[in-house]
Amino acid sequence: MSACCDYEGSDYRVRFWQNADRAYEDAVERVALRRLLPSSGKRLIELGAGFGRLADLYAGYEEVVLLDYARSMLHDAIARWGSDPRFRFVVADVYRLPFAAGAFDAATMIRVVHHLADVPAALEQIRRVLAEGGTFVLEFANKRNLKAMLRHALRRQPWSPYTPEPVEFVALHFDFHPRWMQLQAQQAGFVVQSALPVSFLRLNLLKRILPLSLMVSLDAMLQRAGQRALFAPSVFLSLRAGVRQPAARLPPCESIFRSPISGAPVRREGDWLISDQDKVRWRVEGALYDFKSPEPL
Ligand SMILES: C[S@@+](CC[C@H](N)C(=O)[O-])C[C@H]1O[C@@H](n2cnc3c(N)ncnc32)[C@H](O)[C@@H]1O
Repeated sequence: MSACCDYEGSDYRVRFWQNADRAYEDAVERVALRRLLPSSGKRLIELGAGFGRLADLYAGYEEVVLLDYARSMLHDAIARWGSDPRFRFVVADVYRLPFAAGAFDAATMIRVVHHLADVPAALEQIRRVLAEGGTFVLEFANKRNLKAMLRHALRRQPWSPYTPEPVEFVALHFDFHPRWMQLQAQQAGFVVQSALPVSFLRLNLLKRILPLSLMVSLDAMLQRAGQRALFAPSVFLSLRAGVRQPAARLPPCESIFRSPISGAPVRREGDWLISDQDKVRWRVEGALYDFKSPEPL
């Protein structure tokens, strides 16, 4: 099992978004997500959803699952979205998704895959829980970006932005080549629908001199114009779940869960989900399903 980048107790929301000048990044990611995600659907899951920064974009979905490995991040998400009955919050690992095959018709994963050492294993899990034809919007950090290309040309960076393999520039922080990531997606059973380069203007100098609205409009244009030149620091892929299992109706909401240990069905008893096969149970508190700490039966 691959290691997780643990955000438990982290001040990510305040430090990274609230106290730093990232309104541009937030806004252009929203532009890309709106472009790639169907505006409505039955059941959507966001993987590594953190504090639910983007969850307002899921207004057209009947059910929404925000999943994260860090319980504290989901508590933050509950503070924002917990009063909306469409939402459930699941503490679990993307490498061991506690859901039935084909449980969702849409999925998103933004700013998360750069923490994953085993991308094929994660994509395999995500493909499994998506119904055939479902949409998966995946954002990844792009190693072949203009800044890395310039630094490489000036010999100020030891790794090449042009080679396909991921680069781990800090422990559990990876940049990926667009071709490599698209190949992994295809091998996991996805069809690549489109790719958008995002955050081309991510430079402090530009943020200081240009109004935010102009930066966002320019980025929105570059996302379209640059589809064949994926040289931005962030890339959004729209992936369609290819044929793998016969298309079926999505399971009803209480039967989407499976044991993350064995994949066996689980049953609900009071505030617990129970796996008789694995002889463990997981706690359910309101809309929060905690698969991180199994208790023996
Ligand atoms: C950089 S934050 C991004 C949060 C959110 N997607 C956003 O864009 O605001 C990365 C998130 O991924 C979660 N994460 C990292 N590895 C994970 C894993 N193996 N399974 C589930 N979540 C994971 C972290 O807990 C953290 O909340």
